[in-house]
Amino acid sequence: MSGIVGFLGNRSAVPILLDCLDTLDYRGYDSAGIAVSDSHNIEIRKAVGRIKDLRTLLLREPVKQGTLGIGHTRWATHGTPSATNSHPLTGCDHRFVVVHNGIIENYPQLRRTLVKQGHTFKTETDTEVIPHLLEEYDTGDLEATVQHILPMLKGSFALAIMSEAQPDMIVAVSQDNPLVLGLGRREAFLASDIPALLPYTRQIYPIKNGEIATLTPGKITIKHMDGTVVEPGYSLADETVYDVLLHEYEHYMLKEICDQPKALEDTLAGRLKPEGVQLPELEAVWTTEALKNLRKIDIVASGTSNHAGIIGKKAFEQLLGLPVEVTYSSEFIHEHAALDDRTLVILLSQSGETADTLSALREAKKWGCPTLAITNTAGSTISRKADSTLLTKAGPELAVASTKAYTSQIAAMLLLSVWMAQKLELGDVEKRQELLDALARLPRDVDSTLIMTQDAIDQFAQLIDDQEHLFLIGRGLDYVLALEGALKMQEVAYIHADAYAAGEMKHGTMALITPGVPVIALATQGHVFDKTVSNIKEVKARDAFVVGITRVGDDLLAEEADEVMYIPDTHPLLMPILAAIPLQLLAYYSGKVRGHDVDRPRNLAKSLTVE
Ligand code: F6R
Repeated sequence: MSGIVGFLGNRSAVPILLDCLDTLDYRGYDSAGIAVSDSHNIEIRKAVGRIKDLRTLLLREPVKQGTLGIGHTRWATHGTPSATNSHPLTGCDHRFVVVHNGIIENYPQLRRTLVKQGHTFKTETDTEVIPHLLEEYDTGDLEATVQHILPMLKGSFALAIMSEAQPDMIVAVSQDNPLVLGLGRREAFLASDIPALLPYTRQIYPIKNGEIATLTPGKITIKHMDGTVVEPGYSLADETVYDVLLHEYEHYMLKEICDQPKALEDTLAGRLKPEGVQLPELEAVWTTEALKNLRKIDIVASGTSNHAGIIGKKAFEQLLGLPVEVTYSSEFIHEHAALDDRTLVILLSQSGETADTLSALREAKKWGCPTLAITNTAGSTISRKADSTLLTKAGPELAVASTKAYTSQIAAMLLLSVWMAQKLELGDVEKRQELLDALARLPRDVDSTLIMTQDAIDQFAQLIDDQEHLFLIGRGLDYVLALEGALKMQEVAYIHADAYAAGEMKHGTMALITPGVPVIALATQGHVFDKTVSNIKEVKARDAFVVGITRVGDDLLAEEADEVMYIPDTHPLLMPILAAIPLQLLAYYSGKVRGHDVDRPRNLAKSLTVE
């Protein structure tokens, strides 16, 4: 799983490739490399570590001035992070130079055959079979050779390839893996996502499955696998370079936490109307008849998106009265309950590219289930393959830890559940209206939550900077949010954080409560508030250090907890969005005070395009 880039124009390629890789390094930051051509020779530089390590190498060992090249930033899947395993990769000789994002599933078979044919492999990667195949089936023309070997590859892949014989050409391919072509003035760009291109162009064309793009000076040709030429319909990216700048913030994670009022406003805009929710993008597929046919909903997602899904489940159950299951994508593929054409499968994925979720989508389709993607990335693979898509409008999320995409996913599911209930004329209209009124206030409430909690959380993070363990407890939706809070603390602050249903502590976990251990107690759900307070008393009796998070007005908590943080009161289904803010801030400030790279946590990457 990685990010790939390409450039062809009249300017020096190196700074542009490095700049685009900087934006893409959330996709992987174990190692990086570039290949640059001066139209005669191709030179390669690779370094273990971040793009800055590659920059340092290039200062020590510069490449000749070249105006075209390709680059890669890697999250190691096959083979350790090393200069040898990092891309660009070559075969037995330097005839072909390849960068790849995705996975070649049949590489063991291909590798065995190629070894028998006399090829010697240098790396442990799946990718290396590609330059060897290109050598084996070299037609003398790069585009034709790529076209010839593509049917031999199984898996998902985006590729950018150069050849020594045609050093002024880049050939790019996208197969179930994103690759965007950007058009500048007499120059062309390639990148795994749109934000990487924004400093250079907003004219974009996402290369489609089975298309081969050939870039040469002054000319871009796109063909189908069968050779027919495709006219690329370039469009203007919705995002601008302004969306991907840090502005006054030190890190993207903090910027994205603070962006949430706007992300939510944009997600709700045009959809929340005085007469109810309107989702015109779903009308064609989801007629009232189609909705009436549904007997069950399955929500499938990974990580943080899965946690958002569990909150969505409560909304669908409450508003539609349908049974809803939430499953991790990686589990759904192998184990799922009965599926049929009356089961709606909702795929929740910020990136729209997560391989596990994509496989789950294929599985759902195999069983004839109608599918609906909720994603933050228009045109992503999952949105293209699902029957229908509801977009969150959180804007580009560049920190690895998801924040604004998570809260926008919850908002989108609430909109969807209300919209379905309206169409099916289900439930109490007044109750629905209460939820809609609360949704309309949501961006302001999130803004108030930021103001009410940011400084206190910063101080609390400093207070617990020597703690290795942390517990989060809550009941109902507070428990679901605790799961997300724990994940954030693990991935950004590297703290062993665990979430528990508050009433379950006494059944085992209480044994782990030792004097001074921090416990975050979430108590934002009115109907279980008293019971949560009882559970707080239990951990307090074991001398835990309890920080309560509750609604303005729930003063009882102050009598039990060591500290209390208050957030605005709103509809119970929206409380997890507000209470997520202090938990995100806690992960951010804890990671920062411990000196971690909060935007690029160790061993992780944002968009996981391998299973
Ligand atoms: C954690 C995080 C991940 C993602 C997960 C799924 O902060 O961001 O757990 O939620 O990798 O990613 P998407 O939503 O892109 O499918």
